[in-house]
Amino acid sequence: MGMDAGAGEKPNENVVRHNLTVDRQARIGISRQRSAVLWFTGLSGSGKSTIANALEIRLHQAGRLSYLLDGDNVRLGLNADLGFSEHDRKENNRRVAHVARLFWDANVLTLVSFISPFRHERETARQLIGPDFIEIFVDTPMAECEKRDPKGLYVKARKGEIAQFTGISSPYEPPENPEIVLHTDRESVAESVERIVALLTARGYL
Ligand SMILES: Nc1ncnc2c1ncn2[C@@H]1O[C@H](COP(=O)(O)OP(=O)(O)OP(=O)(O)O)[C@@H](O)[C@H]1O
Ligand SMILES: [Mg+2]
Repeated sequence: MGMDAGAGEKPNENVVRHNLTVDRQARIGISRQRSAVLWFTGLSGSGKSTIANALEIRLHQAGRLSYLLDGDNVRLGLNADLGFSEHDRKENNRRVAHVARLFWDANVLTLVSFISPFRHERETARQLIGPDFIEIFVDTPMAECEKRDPKGLYVKARKGEIAQFTGISSPYEPPENPEIVLHTDRESVAESVERIVALLTARGYL
């Protein structure tokens, strides 16, 4: 049994991977589920946390072990040392990709709701996870996000009180080939959840 939960790391000649005996396949063997990483990306206010939370309720009710890694929550803990420069946003995403990989390896249905504005960092996460990576583009128009403004951030950003705000003063690179595109300006939260559940079911995760 191979175990490579840290694949993608920079090599260091003094650090030697210890191959562990109980791996993801072994964990699948004693469980009634198979892990995936559901990676939500989109502008602030697009609905990532709202939909991921609603999906997780659904998974939990179905008796599946899940974990939602939410951008704001992870920034309050593990990534509390990071800001919003391009470098720090990339590091924020690099770390959560590795955390998601550990949860995936633990055979947990893992949801990630981070803006994750850069295509390259999302692609790196995809490569780290492999075929169980499901990219969900929460494609809400900027005007709709700004109208919702659930945290009052757009008002502050327009007043110049938040530097490097995604969509205003920091770029957002939309995904080119996401597994799912959600149009929350014309689909309800429940409809979005059902579309994700349908894909999970079709792929044998549910
Ligand atoms: N169809 C919909 N799907 C998702 N959210 C919706 C929908 N319609 C309205 N909303 C509202 O839009 C807001 C989305 O906010 P949410 O915090 O989920 O965004 P987010 O993408 O997590 O933003 P951030 O990147 O700042 O964390 C919520 O207030 C939610 O109630
Ligand atoms: Mg959120």
